[in-house]
Amino acid sequence: RVSRHYDFFIREANYTRLCREKTILTVNGEFPGPTIFARNGDVVFVNVYNQGDKNITIHWHGVDQPRNPWSDGPAYITQCPIQPGSKFTYRIILSEEEGTLWWHAHSDFDRATVHGAIVIHPKRGTAYPFRKPDKEIPIILGEWWHRDVGQLLGEALSTGSDFEPSDANTINGQPGDLFPCSSDSAFRLPVEHGKTYMLRIINAALTTEFFFAIAGHRLTVVGTDAAYIKPFTVDHLFIAPGQTKTVLLKADRGVGHRSNDTYRYYMAARPYATNPIARFDNSTATAVLEYVDAPPAIATPPVMPFLPAINDSAAAEAYSVRLRSLASDEHPVDVPRHVDHRMLITIAVNEIPCAPGDLCKGPRNNRVAASLNNVSFEMPSTAILGAYYRSVLGGVAKPDFPDKPRVEFNYTSDDLPLRFTARDTRVKVLEYGAVVEVVFQDTAILGTESHPMHLHGYSFYVVGRGLGNFDKHKDPATYNLVDPPYQNTVSVPKAGWAAIRFRAANPGVWFMHCHFERHMVWGMETVFIVKNGKAREAKMMPPPPNMPRLLGRADGVWG
Ligand code: C2O
Ligand code: CU
Repeated sequence: RVSRHYDFFIREANYTRLCREKTILTVNGEFPGPTIFARNGDVVFVNVYNQGDKNITIHWHGVDQPRNPWSDGPAYITQCPIQPGSKFTYRIILSEEEGTLWWHAHSDFDRATVHGAIVIHPKRGTAYPFRKPDKEIPIILGEWWHRDVGQLLGEALSTGSDFEPSDANTINGQPGDLFPCSSDSAFRLPVEHGKTYMLRIINAALTTEFFFAIAGHRLTVVGTDAAYIKPFTVDHLFIAPGQTKTVLLKADRGVGHRSNDTYRYYMAARPYATNPIARFDNSTATAVLEYVDAPPAIATPPVMPFLPAINDSAAAEAYSVRLRSLASDEHPVDVPRHVDHRMLITIAVNEIPCAPGDLCKGPRNNRVAASLNNVSFEMPSTAILGAYYRSVLGGVAKPDFPDKPRVEFNYTSDDLPLRFTARDTRVKVLEYGAVVEVVFQDTAILGTESHPMHLHGYSFYVVGRGLGNFDKHKDPATYNLVDPPYQNTVSVPKAGWAAIRFRAANPGVWFMHCHFERHMVWGMETVFIVKNGKAREAKMMPPPPNMPRLLGRADGVWG
């Protein structure tokens, strides 16, 4: 394996957006952070030096981390945070991923500004399954808040209320022309007529799903997450937080035209928002695609692309159902046909009754919470992986996360049965090598909503999706077991379901959660513990010598 090395210095830096300066947490002073470049098969070492003043961890989103959960990153799941003044080296083994991934902080709300692209080129000696593009550009979608995101998080959690929406959506860290003080710094992509550009689009937003388009151009989607798909061409695409899309853009305008509007085009990202009661930022972020031979003195604004309406679930779903694995000889699929372990997991936003004397500003003066199978995950204060490795899991988590909801109800229309939930740290233990099918079922408890569900340690096949309640007798007949997309984050449709399959052949402790940060901090998550197998290569690696220390412990116990 070829190794690559990066140094990440976590530090504060001042950035001005929307006419105001603000201090944010960054890697190496950059926002968005630096891009990691590698090839499929490489191992990347990242030294993270925490020079900020808060605890932090970094996660390598979509990397399987084979047998090595120690470098996965979610705080209190696989490690204790890296404390200010400390350092931790992550070892990122790229074993099958090829395409676009990303890295982000996995502690509190730090990932609002601590994130960046991971570009994984084809294995040595191999090529793209399509003509090599002339240039590759990361396009990172995100949000900007006037206020400090750590403060927003603290306030919302202390009162059990919803979060303040962002003040702007962003493309490569910039809101663009539709916002005050933002035109000069808007992201610009210079293009030459006749060339092909690969856009590596990443949704790094905390709370927002997006529709994305470029005026005057169509986009050919060639990859999703870190796998190739059968190429298809769209006017606009849909991308949920945690997902990536690798697309090809042919610059076929800008020459031989005389009118002003043929040289500059907006690329735009606008939210898709499905929760009827949540407050959200419905602003459109823009960047400019500009032909290099553009006449200099054009003052007319660029052309705006068409984007679906903010609540256009049909448009989002029409996009998601088109994803199919490439399934070629070089990039085969291996979809498990036989299932060993089935789970039906209901997804809900709930209430927790207000304790006497508490200040509760959530629904009906209770606290807002979220759950999977009505368990609202309680973060432990020491890492589950360390406890499991030392065989003291019992003090930290209960291995009894339910395989199905406690009661059956009309999930997508009835909200009463399980409106209330309770917090607990319940995890699911899986046998090594078991084929697992999880059906994620959205519910109407406090309103139906789409959810980007993300699994650490694995990519999975999205074998089915549909609207309404999952029907275990009828729906499996509609599964795609031939060329389903291979993803790490599935967008579960509003008032619908999605079914995924994976073979639990990566031993370790793996977080599984909604990639909406607000839902995650409310408890919409659980943990899969995959046991060791018998063979040596079926066992977890031992921990590295430098695991971060448990907070407040001077005796050197690590998390
Ligand atoms: Cu993108 Cu648990 O993370
Ligand atoms: Cu969610």
